[in-house]
Amino acid sequence: MRVLGIETSCDETGVAVYDTDRGLLAHALFSQIALHAEYGGVVPELASRDHVRKLLPLVREVLAEAGLAPADLDGVAYTAGPGLVGALMVGAAAGRALAWALDLPAVGVHHMEGHLLAPLLEDPGLAPPFVALLVSGGHTQLVEVAAVGDYRLLGETLDDAAGEAFDKTAKMMGLPYPGGPELARLAESGRPGVFTFSRPMTDRPGLDFSFSGLKTQVLLAWQGSDQAPQTRADIARGFEDAVVETLAIKCQRALDATGARTLVVAGGVGANTRLRERLQTLVVGGTSVPKRSGAGVPPTARVCFPRPAFCTDNGAMIAFAGALRLQAGQHEAAVVTVTPRWDMASLSAVGGTSVPTRSNRD
Ligand code: KG4
Ligand code: ZN
Repeated sequence: MRVLGIETSCDETGVAVYDTDRGLLAHALFSQIALHAEYGGVVPELASRDHVRKLLPLVREVLAEAGLAPADLDGVAYTAGPGLVGALMVGAAAGRALAWALDLPAVGVHHMEGHLLAPLLEDPGLAPPFVALLVSGGHTQLVEVAAVGDYRLLGETLDDAAGEAFDKTAKMMGLPYPGGPELARLAESGRPGVFTFSRPMTDRPGLDFSFSGLKTQVLLAWQGSDQAPQTRADIARGFEDAVVETLAIKCQRALDATGARTLVVAGGVGANTRLRERLQTLVVGGTSVPKRSGAGVPPTARVCFPRPAFCTDNGAMIAFAGALRLQAGQHEAAVVTVTPRWDMASLSAVGGTSVPTRSNRD
Protein backbone atom coordinates (compact mmCIF):
# COMPACT_ATOMS: atom_id res chain seq x y z
CA MET A 1 0.00 0.00 0.00
CA ARG A 2 1.46 3.36 -1.07
CA VAL A 3 0.46 6.27 1.12
CA LEU A 4 1.02 9.96 0.53
CA GLY A 5 1.78 11.76 3.81
CA ILE A 6 1.22 15.49 4.32
CA GLU A 7 2.49 17.48 7.33
CA THR A 8 1.48 21.15 7.74
CA SER A 9 0.85 21.53 11.47
CA CYS A 10 3.32 24.35 12.12
CA ASP A 11 6.17 25.91 10.16
CA GLU A 12 7.37 23.05 7.93
CA THR A 13 5.63 21.71 4.86
CA GLY A 14 6.50 18.00 4.71
CA VAL A 15 5.44 15.46 2.10
CA ALA A 16 6.41 11.79 1.67
CA VAL A 17 5.32 8.53 0.10
CA TYR A 18 5.55 5.39 2.26
CA ASP A 19 5.08 1.92 0.79
CA THR A 20 4.10 -0.78 3.32
CA ASP A 21 6.13 -3.34 1.32
CA ARG A 22 9.12 -1.28 0.25
CA GLY A 23 9.45 1.36 2.98
CA LEU A 24 9.93 5.07 2.43
CA LEU A 25 9.99 5.86 -1.32
CA ALA A 26 10.53 9.63 -1.22
CA HIS A 27 10.22 12.60 1.11
CA ALA A 28 10.67 16.36 0.84
CA LEU A 29 10.47 19.24 3.27
CA PHE A 30 10.21 22.98 2.99
CA SER A 31 11.10 24.88 6.16
CA GLN A 32 9.61 28.33 6.77
CA ILE A 33 12.43 29.41 9.09
CA ALA A 34 13.47 32.36 6.91
CA LEU A 35 9.86 33.53 6.68
CA HIS A 36 9.35 33.73 10.46
CA ALA A 37 12.90 34.68 11.52
CA GLU A 38 12.35 38.43 11.50
CA TYR A 39 9.39 38.03 13.89
CA GLY A 40 11.33 35.82 16.32
CA GLY A 41 8.66 33.10 16.20
CA VAL A 42 6.00 31.47 14.03
CA VAL A 43 3.34 33.85 12.66
CA PRO A 44 0.32 31.55 12.14
CA GLU A 45 -1.24 33.42 9.22
CA LEU A 46 2.05 33.58 7.32
CA ALA A 47 2.57 29.88 8.01
CA SER A 48 -0.83 28.96 6.52
CA ARG A 49 -0.26 31.03 3.40
CA ASP A 50 3.15 29.53 2.83
CA HIS A 51 1.78 25.98 3.18
CA VAL A 52 -0.72 26.90 0.43
CA ARG A 53 2.17 27.99 -1.80
CA LYS A 54 4.50 25.06 -1.14
CA LEU A 55 2.29 22.01 -0.65
CA LEU A 56 1.29 21.04 -4.20
CA PRO A 57 4.78 21.65 -5.69
CA LEU A 58 6.17 19.38 -2.94
CA VAL A 59 3.55 16.69 -3.69
CA ARG A 60 4.58 16.77 -7.36
CA GLU A 61 8.27 16.65 -6.42
CA VAL A 62 7.82 13.66 -4.11
CA LEU A 63 5.70 11.70 -6.60
CA ALA A 64 8.32 12.34 -9.31
CA GLU A 65 11.13 11.21 -6.99
CA ALA A 66 9.20 8.04 -6.14
CA GLY A 67 8.52 7.46 -9.85
CA LEU A 68 4.79 7.40 -9.21
CA ALA A 69 1.73 8.97 -10.82
CA PRO A 70 -1.09 10.15 -8.53
CA ALA A 71 -3.12 7.13 -9.67
CA ASP A 72 -0.46 4.80 -8.21
CA LEU A 73 -1.32 5.93 -4.67
CA ASP A 74 -3.51 3.78 -2.41
CA GLY A 75 -4.23 6.28 0.34
CA VAL A 76 -3.62 9.73 1.76
CA ALA A 77 -2.62 10.69 5.31
CA TYR A 78 -2.43 14.23 6.62
CA THR A 79 -1.78 15.79 10.03
CA ALA A 80 -5.17 16.62 11.56
CA GLY A 81 -3.82 18.01 14.87
CA PRO A 82 -2.56 19.15 17.24
CA GLY A 83 -1.15 22.31 15.67
CA LEU A 84 -2.02 25.73 14.28
CA VAL A 85 -5.58 25.55 13.00
CA GLY A 86 -5.02 27.46 9.74
CA ALA A 87 -1.87 25.50 8.93
CA LEU A 88 -3.62 22.20 9.68
CA MET A 89 -6.54 23.18 7.45
CA VAL A 90 -4.24 23.57 4.44
CA GLY A 91 -2.93 20.00 4.69
CA ALA A 92 -6.33 18.56 5.59
CA ALA A 93 -8.12 20.31 2.71
CA ALA A 94 -5.44 19.35 0.18
CA GLY A 95 -5.25 15.76 1.47
CA ARG A 96 -9.02 15.33 1.47
CA ALA A 97 -9.35 16.90 -2.00
CA LEU A 98 -6.66 14.62 -3.45
CA ALA A 99 -8.29 11.57 -1.88
CA TRP A 100 -11.70 12.64 -3.18
CA ALA A 101 -10.40 13.25 -6.71
CA LEU A 102 -8.44 9.98 -6.80
CA ASP A 103 -11.14 8.00 -5.01
CA LEU A 104 -8.77 6.95 -2.22
CA PRO A 105 -9.25 6.46 1.52
CA ALA A 106 -7.81 9.25 3.65
CA VAL A 107 -6.95 9.43 7.32
CA GLY A 108 -6.20 12.33 9.66
CA VAL A 109 -3.07 11.56 11.70
CA HIS A 110 -2.24 12.75 15.23
CA HIS A 111 0.99 14.74 14.89
CA MET A 112 2.44 13.32 18.12
CA GLU A 113 1.62 9.76 17.09
CA GLY A 114 3.57 10.55 13.93
CA HIS A 115 6.57 11.63 16.02
CA LEU A 116 6.17 8.64 18.34
CA LEU A 117 6.19 6.12 15.48
CA ALA A 118 8.98 7.84 13.48
CA PRO A 119 11.73 5.65 15.04
CA LEU A 120 9.96 2.56 13.61
CA LEU A 121 10.23 3.93 10.06
CA GLU A 122 13.77 2.77 9.55
CA ASP A 123 14.29 0.19 12.28
CA PRO A 124 12.72 -3.13 11.26
CA GLY A 125 13.50 -4.75 14.62
CA LEU A 126 11.69 -2.11 16.66
CA ALA A 127 8.12 -2.74 17.84
CA PRO A 128 6.05 -2.04 20.96
CA PRO A 129 6.04 -2.45 23.90
CA PHE A 130 8.37 0.44 24.73
CA VAL A 131 8.47 3.76 26.54
CA ALA A 132 8.53 6.87 24.36
CA LEU A 133 9.97 10.25 25.25
CA LEU A 134 8.29 12.88 23.10
CA VAL A 135 10.19 16.14 23.20
CA SER A 136 9.08 18.79 20.74
CA GLY A 137 8.35 22.51 20.68
CA GLY A 138 4.87 21.99 22.11
CA HIS A 139 5.07 18.71 24.03
CA THR A 140 7.20 16.95 26.62
CA GLN A 141 5.66 13.60 27.41
CA LEU A 142 6.63 10.14 28.59
CA VAL A 143 4.27 7.59 27.07
CA GLU A 144 3.98 3.86 27.66
CA VAL A 145 3.31 2.26 24.29
CA ALA A 146 1.70 -1.18 24.60
CA ALA A 147 0.84 -1.37 20.89
CA VAL A 148 0.46 1.01 17.97
CA GLY A 149 -2.47 3.21 19.02
CA ASP A 150 -2.43 2.06 22.66
CA TYR A 151 -0.82 4.91 24.56
CA ARG A 152 -0.71 5.58 28.30
CA LEU A 153 0.58 8.95 29.44
CA LEU A 154 3.14 8.45 32.23
CA GLY A 155 4.11 12.08 32.69
CA GLU A 156 4.22 15.43 30.94
CA THR A 157 5.31 19.00 31.42
CA LEU A 158 3.27 21.15 33.75
CA ASP A 159 4.31 24.33 31.92
CA ASP A 160 6.84 24.85 29.11
CA ALA A 161 7.80 22.03 26.75
CA ALA A 162 11.51 21.17 26.54
CA GLY A 163 11.78 22.62 23.02
CA GLU A 164 9.90 25.73 24.11
CA ALA A 165 12.36 26.18 27.00
CA PHE A 166 15.25 25.89 24.53
CA ASP A 167 13.62 28.42 22.20
CA LYS A 168 12.68 30.95 24.90
CA THR A 169 16.07 30.71 26.63
CA ALA A 170 17.84 31.18 23.31
CA LYS A 171 15.72 34.23 22.49
CA MET A 172 16.44 35.70 25.90
CA MET A 173 20.17 35.43 25.21
CA GLY A 174 19.78 37.13 21.85
CA LEU A 175 20.09 34.05 19.63
CA PRO A 176 18.18 33.97 16.33
CA TYR A 177 14.99 31.95 15.77
CA PRO A 178 14.63 28.99 15.92
CA GLY A 179 16.60 29.06 19.13
CA GLY A 180 16.85 25.37 20.10
CA PRO A 181 19.45 24.24 17.54
CA GLU A 182 21.29 27.59 17.86
CA LEU A 183 21.54 27.25 21.62
CA ALA A 184 22.75 23.64 21.27
CA ARG A 185 25.44 24.81 18.82
CA LEU A 186 26.53 27.56 21.23
CA ALA A 187 26.65 25.07 24.12
CA GLU A 188 29.31 23.07 22.25
CA SER A 189 31.87 25.75 23.08
CA GLY A 190 30.56 26.17 26.63
CA ARG A 191 32.42 24.70 29.60
CA PRO A 192 30.51 22.22 31.78
CA GLY A 193 29.99 23.19 35.41
CA VAL A 194 30.76 26.92 35.08
CA PHE A 195 27.02 27.54 35.46
CA THR A 196 24.95 24.89 37.19
CA PHE A 197 21.17 25.08 37.07
CA SER A 198 18.68 22.91 38.94
CA ARG A 199 17.19 19.71 37.51
CA PRO A 200 13.51 20.62 38.00
CA MET A 201 11.24 18.13 39.78
CA THR A 202 13.88 15.42 40.06
CA ASP A 203 14.01 15.81 43.85
CA ARG A 204 10.56 14.23 44.25
CA PRO A 205 8.95 11.10 42.84
CA GLY A 206 6.94 11.23 39.64
CA LEU A 207 7.35 11.54 35.91
CA ASP A 208 6.10 15.07 35.26
CA PHE A 209 8.35 17.91 34.11
CA SER A 210 8.53 21.65 34.62
CA PHE A 211 10.89 23.86 32.62
CA SER A 212 9.64 27.41 33.14
CA GLY A 213 11.54 27.94 36.42
CA LEU A 214 14.75 26.80 34.76
CA LYS A 215 14.23 29.42 32.08
CA THR A 216 13.93 32.09 34.81
CA GLN A 217 17.10 30.83 36.54
CA VAL A 218 18.97 31.19 33.27
CA LEU A 219 17.54 34.68 32.73
CA LEU A 220 18.80 35.80 36.15
CA ALA A 221 22.24 34.28 35.53
CA TRP A 222 22.39 35.95 32.10
CA GLN A 223 21.33 39.36 33.42
CA GLY A 224 23.83 39.14 36.29
CA SER A 225 26.72 38.11 34.05
CA ASP A 226 29.20 40.07 31.91
CA GLN A 227 27.39 38.69 28.82
CA ALA A 228 30.74 38.04 27.12
CA PRO A 229 30.77 35.42 24.31
CA GLN A 230 32.41 32.72 26.48
CA THR A 231 29.96 33.43 29.34
CA ARG A 232 27.06 33.08 26.91
CA ALA A 233 28.39 29.70 25.76
CA ASP A 234 28.94 28.59 29.37
CA ILE A 235 25.36 29.53 30.31
CA ALA A 236 24.05 27.72 27.22
CA ARG A 237 26.04 24.65 28.28
CA GLY A 238 24.68 24.85 31.85
CA PHE A 239 21.12 25.12 30.54
CA GLU A 240 21.51 22.26 28.07
CA ASP A 241 23.09 20.02 30.72
CA ALA A 242 20.18 20.75 33.10
CA VAL A 243 17.53 19.87 30.49
CA VAL A 244 19.38 16.77 29.28
CA GLU A 245 20.00 15.49 32.81
CA THR A 246 16.38 16.13 33.84
CA LEU A 247 15.05 14.26 30.80
CA ALA A 248 17.50 11.40 31.41
CA ILE A 249 16.54 11.04 35.09
CA LYS A 250 12.83 10.87 34.21
CA CYS A 251 13.43 8.42 31.35
CA GLN A 252 15.33 6.15 33.73
CA ARG A 253 12.43 6.33 36.17
CA ALA A 254 9.95 5.51 33.41
CA LEU A 255 11.99 2.44 32.41
CA ASP A 256 12.18 1.39 36.06
CA ALA A 257 8.46 1.93 36.66
CA THR A 258 7.25 0.06 33.57
CA GLY A 259 9.93 -2.62 33.32
CA ALA A 260 10.37 -1.64 29.65
CA ARG A 261 13.73 -2.46 28.07
CA THR A 262 13.42 -0.04 25.17
CA LEU A 263 13.17 3.74 25.07
CA VAL A 264 12.13 5.49 21.90
CA VAL A 265 12.90 9.19 21.57
CA ALA A 266 11.12 11.46 19.14
CA GLY A 267 10.36 15.12 18.45
CA GLY A 268 12.64 18.03 17.60
CA VAL A 269 14.67 18.01 20.83
CA GLY A 270 15.51 14.38 20.03
CA ALA A 271 17.92 15.85 17.46
CA ASN A 272 20.03 17.20 20.34
CA THR A 273 23.41 15.46 20.30
CA ARG A 274 24.08 15.65 24.03
CA LEU A 275 20.64 14.22 24.82
CA ARG A 276 21.25 11.38 22.37
CA GLU A 277 24.58 10.58 24.04
CA ARG A 278 23.28 10.80 27.59
CA LEU A 279 20.27 8.56 26.99
CA GLN A 280 22.57 5.82 25.70
CA THR A 281 23.72 5.35 29.31
CA LEU A 282 20.26 4.39 30.66
CA VAL A 283 19.95 0.92 32.09
CA VAL A 284 17.28 -1.71 32.56
CA GLY A 285 16.61 -3.65 35.71
CA GLY A 286 15.71 -0.81 38.04
CA THR A 287 18.35 1.64 39.20
CA SER A 288 15.93 2.70 41.91
CA VAL A 289 16.31 -0.75 43.49
CA PRO A 290 19.59 -0.82 45.45
CA LYS A 291 21.98 -3.36 43.92
CA ARG A 292 23.38 -6.08 46.15
CA SER A 293 27.17 -5.97 46.15
CA GLY A 294 28.52 -8.19 43.39
CA ALA A 295 25.22 -8.09 41.49
CA GLY A 296 27.08 -6.72 38.47
CA VAL A 297 26.45 -3.80 36.17
CA PRO A 298 22.83 -3.62 34.93
CA PRO A 299 22.46 -3.98 31.14
CA THR A 300 22.00 -0.78 29.17
CA ALA A 301 18.56 -0.07 27.78
CA ARG A 302 17.94 -0.11 24.06
CA VAL A 303 17.49 3.52 23.06
CA CYS A 304 16.17 4.31 19.58
CA PHE A 305 16.06 7.64 17.79
CA PRO A 306 14.94 8.50 14.30
CA ARG A 307 17.63 10.15 12.20
CA PRO A 308 17.69 13.88 13.10
CA ALA A 309 15.68 14.87 9.99
CA PHE A 310 12.85 12.60 11.18
CA CYS A 311 13.03 13.93 14.77
CA THR A 312 11.83 17.34 13.65
CA ASP A 313 8.57 17.74 11.72
CA ASN A 314 8.45 15.80 8.45
CA GLY A 315 6.04 14.14 6.04
CA ALA A 316 7.58 10.66 6.35
CA MET A 317 6.28 10.10 9.90
CA ILE A 318 2.76 11.10 8.82
CA ALA A 319 2.85 8.81 5.78
CA PHE A 320 4.06 5.97 8.01
CA ALA A 321 1.56 6.47 10.86
CA GLY A 322 -1.24 6.96 8.30
CA ALA A 323 -0.23 3.80 6.42
CA LEU A 324 -0.56 1.72 9.61
CA ARG A 325 -4.07 3.05 10.22
CA LEU A 326 -5.19 2.81 6.58
CA GLN A 327 -3.81 -0.71 6.39
CA ALA A 328 -5.94 -1.58 9.41
CA GLY A 329 -8.99 -0.33 7.50
CA GLN A 330 -9.32 2.98 9.31
CA HIS A 331 -10.25 6.07 7.34
CA GLU A 332 -12.73 8.89 7.67
CA ALA A 333 -15.61 10.34 5.71
CA ALA A 334 -14.79 13.06 3.18
CA VAL A 335 -15.17 15.90 5.65
CA VAL A 336 -12.36 18.36 6.30
CA THR A 337 -11.93 18.59 10.06
CA VAL A 338 -8.87 19.27 12.17
CA THR A 339 -8.32 19.06 15.93
CA PRO A 340 -5.92 21.79 17.07
CA ARG A 341 -5.97 20.41 20.65
CA TRP A 342 -6.02 16.64 20.73
CA ASP A 343 -5.36 14.18 23.56
CA MET A 344 -3.37 11.23 22.20
CA ALA A 345 -4.87 8.88 24.81
CA SER A 346 -8.23 9.25 23.00
CA LEU A 347 -6.94 7.48 19.87
CA SER A 348 -8.36 4.10 18.92
CA ALA A 349 -6.09 1.05 18.89
CA VAL A 350 -4.89 -0.19 15.51
CA GLY A 351 -6.35 -3.64 16.39
CA GLY A 352 -4.19 -6.59 15.42
CA THR A 353 -2.01 -4.71 12.98
CA SER A 354 1.66 -5.30 13.47
CA VAL A 355 4.23 -3.01 11.96
CA PRO A 356 4.75 -4.29 8.41
CA THR A 357 8.07 -5.85 7.53
CA ARG A 358 9.75 -4.25 4.60
CA SER A 359 12.26 -5.71 2.22
CA ASN A 360 13.77 -2.57 0.68
CA ARG A 361 14.27 0.64 2.52
CA ASP A 362 16.04 3.83 1.58
O1 KG4 B 1 9.07 18.30 16.67
P1 KG4 B 1 9.39 19.68 16.22
O2 KG4 B 1 10.12 19.84 14.93
O3 KG4 B 1 8.13 20.57 16.12
C1 KG4 B 1 7.07 20.49 17.01
O4 KG4 B 1 6.19 19.60 16.80
O5 KG4 B 1 7.11 21.29 17.96
O6 KG4 B 1 10.24 20.32 17.42
C2 KG4 B 1 10.74 21.61 17.34
C3 KG4 B 1 11.48 21.92 18.63
C4 KG4 B 1 11.88 23.39 18.72
O7 KG4 B 1 11.55 23.85 20.00
C5 KG4 B 1 13.38 23.35 18.49
O8 KG4 B 1 14.06 24.41 19.11
C6 KG4 B 1 13.76 22.02 19.09
O9 KG4 B 1 12.71 21.16 18.70
N1 KG4 B 1 15.04 21.53 18.59
C7 KG4 B 1 16.14 21.36 19.37
C8 KG4 B 1 17.18 20.90 18.52
N2 KG4 B 1 16.67 20.80 17.25
C9 KG4 B 1 15.36 21.18 17.32
N3 KG4 B 1 16.33 21.56 20.69
C10 KG4 B 1 17.55 21.28 21.19
N4 KG4 B 1 18.59 20.84 20.44
C11 KG4 B 1 18.46 20.64 19.12
N5 KG4 B 1 19.48 20.20 18.39
ZN1 ZN C 1 6.36 18.14 15.76
